[in-house]
Amino acid sequence: MDLIVKNGTIVTASDSYVADIGIKDSKVQTIGNLTPDNGSRIIDASEKFVLPGFIDAHVHLSLPFSGTISADSFETGTRAAAAGGVTTVVDFAIQAKGSSLKDAIKSRKAEADGEVFVDYSLHGGITDWNASTRQEISEIIKDGISSFKMFMIYKSEGWLTTDPVLIDALEVTKKLGGMIQVHAESVDLLDSLIAKHHTQEEMEKHGAWLHVITRPNIIEAEAIQRAITWAEYTGGHLFIVHMSTGEGADLVKAARARGVNVIAETGPQYLILNEDVFKGDNGHYFATCPQIKSEADGQRLWAGLRDGSVQTIGTDTCTFNTEQKNMWNGDFTKIPFGLPGTELMMPLLYNDGVRTGKISLNKMVELGSTNPAKVFGMYPQKGSLNIGADADLVVFDPEINLTVDYRKMETNCDWSPFQDKQLQGYPYLTIVRGKVVGKEGKCVGEKGYGKFVKRGFSGNFL
Ligand code: URP
Ligand code: ZN
Ligand code: ZN
Repeated sequence: MDLIVKNGTIVTASDSYVADIGIKDSKVQTIGNLTPDNGSRIIDASEKFVLPGFIDAHVHLSLPFSGTISADSFETGTRAAAAGGVTTVVDFAIQAKGSSLKDAIKSRKAEADGEVFVDYSLHGGITDWNASTRQEISEIIKDGISSFKMFMIYKSEGWLTTDPVLIDALEVTKKLGGMIQVHAESVDLLDSLIAKHHTQEEMEKHGAWLHVITRPNIIEAEAIQRAITWAEYTGGHLFIVHMSTGEGADLVKAARARGVNVIAETGPQYLILNEDVFKGDNGHYFATCPQIKSEADGQRLWAGLRDGSVQTIGTDTCTFNTEQKNMWNGDFTKIPFGLPGTELMMPLLYNDGVRTGKISLNKMVELGSTNPAKVFGMYPQKGSLNIGADADLVVFDPEINLTVDYRKMETNCDWSPFQDKQLQGYPYLTIVRGKVVGKEGKCVGEKGYGKFVKRGFSGNFL
């Protein structure tokens, strides 16, 4: 064996037990009470948990968006992943209007390869559904990209989709083993509320709070309901990204009970923060899309995670630093939308979810690792500690205490949505395919070590 992780409490989505993990040639080779060979490296994991590495299946690294480019690149975003127990990230290759999706994938891969510290994959981002895009999908899925995001908003970015297109895409991908992810917000209602409130007087009076005023829960709920209707009608596989409302959780639960193939993701920002963040002087820093909702929504999302009506956690990392955020100049329609996220995904879920008793540690593994792997066609290579799986694992120390401070983090951001928050429990080591890439909150990996993960079918496999 090349490496033995000894005496840790192994925690998977379904089990917890003390054992050693033997790693050979970047794979999990054996689990048990192991005697080291000559030359095996030993990591002592006593008093620590050993988990499958997290998969952050929703990141936007160096995304051209809101008139700027998101501040975490493939390099810094995956340094942050390595520091935070995330062994695979999934970014988006968003098609430019008039160009092919394949070209977008090719250039996104070229941006990532040679830069990444952990493994990565891509979702397609469909913005121009025409005969040739329709045709490309089959080959793209065969090449290992089986999930495609479509946007029910973002007219000004040129990303907006329409209902007939969504229906057709659900039908086409269903036959090929693919899944459609939707950014579900109701564009017409949203745009009319923005137009109504976009006045100098209101902006001076409400500031960043207008982000809340213009996005009542119905904006997300109506769009989720509509997308579910199309999934029910077509039998296609639907994934609701970054779900922020309690209504959303209820709609997904009811749809799944009727047999609709729908999966939902939420993120730490919706579970832990609440809309009060928009009231402070720097309220605009927190603007993300959909926006952070109420405490009650957060509680309903936690309940949804517990009862299985929300199945995955992803961060929607789209980092903007303070200079970029300040480009708003008091106009809520000009704030670059997005937050840093990957680096704190695991510690936040542990601190606010497991330690408070909202979810079990096994559930945390299911939501952050095993379910994303299953839904996005990476299981059991990723998301498991099965014999033969990639040796992607995290040695997690439940006793580490720290105070969040962006100055000590790997993410390329000069502020944190969780600045000064006290956390207990942090990844001690992050291991990708048998190699230590993160240690005690720092990236210690090698640039370019991360590989593209070719995925199988995506869908409602839970
Ligand atoms: O505000 C966000 N979430 N920015 C990234 C783009 C998206 O919609 O996920
Ligand atoms: Zn989105
Ligand atoms: Zn996103």
